[in-house]
Amino acid sequence: MAYELLLLEIEDRIATVTINRPDKLNALNDAMMREIGSMMDELAADTNVGAIIITGAGRAFVAGADISRLAAAPTGDLEKFARFGQAVFRRIELSAKPVIAAVNGFALGGGCELALACHVRVASTQAKFGLPEVKLGLIPGYGGTQRLPRLIGRGAALQLILTGDSIDGTEAARLGLANAVVEPDALLGTARTMAATMLKNGPIALARAIEAVDVGLDAALEDGLRLEARLFGSLEATADMREGTRAFLEKRPAKFRGA
Ligand code: COA
Repeated sequence: MAYELLLLEIEDRIATVTINRPDKLNALNDAMMREIGSMMDELAADTNVGAIIITGAGRAFVAGADISRLAAAPTGDLEKFARFGQAVFRRIELSAKPVIAAVNGFALGGGCELALACHVRVASTQAKFGLPEVKLGLIPGYGGTQRLPRLIGRGAALQLILTGDSIDGTEAARLGLANAVVEPDALLGTARTMAATMLKNGPIALARAIEAVDVGLDAALEDGLRLEARLFGSLEATADMREGTRAFLEKRPAKFRGA
């Protein structure tokens, strides 16, 4: 598919997807959301890609859902709007390949929710995270009320959601919203280094680890432990598990094949 609002660059098995609507601070309109969904499907199927970085062009990561779209929403539309956006972001969260958000600037509303759907977030010191929907008479609708409290706890999440205040990358890292905060010119390099570190590991193991965390977080501990044991056991059948353990014993780097 040809993309009008996204840029894609693939290097060393790392796909960098850049949200590219800088004149509107990369605000998410319907076309952009469709493109993000298609891009995730395309990258999932691309055997040359093992990890994905999402970032924004210009001074924003994503400054939210397109407010002009929301203002013009016909009656009965907003619930569908939220469900569609949630489904797109769920594709990111359920990606079997690790997805890292490289948050370069404003990550507000839907932009913060996009970052939350990624597996890991690296922030620039210039990043600004926030869920300002209440200032528009709305609430977060692309997963923010669900993922933020799961990530940083109920109290800190409710403070951000109820005030609508923004926080910078350093504060986001302190709260656990960002995994790391770095100077702007180190942002993509840090995200790439992290992706490259992940890519040294067995791809099936990465996929199963993502699944175990995703399903387990919403399960009772006993159910989560049973799932973990089942997924752990499923790796027994992989050549990668044999290779990884043998390579350790033979004191050499493992060569994983994803099989
Ligand atoms: N939806 C639609 N357009 C948006 C947008 C959004 N979420 N965020 C920014 N834009 C547009 C602006 O309307 C402006 O367009 P224009 O040049 O055609 O007027 C352009 O992007 C630049 O934004 P501007 O507001 O002029 O930049 P700024 O530096 O003064 O302020 C922000 C930056 C991020 C603080 C401000 O744009 C903002 O508050 N955006 C909305 C954030 C938000 O509420 N997001 C949640 C939406 S649910």
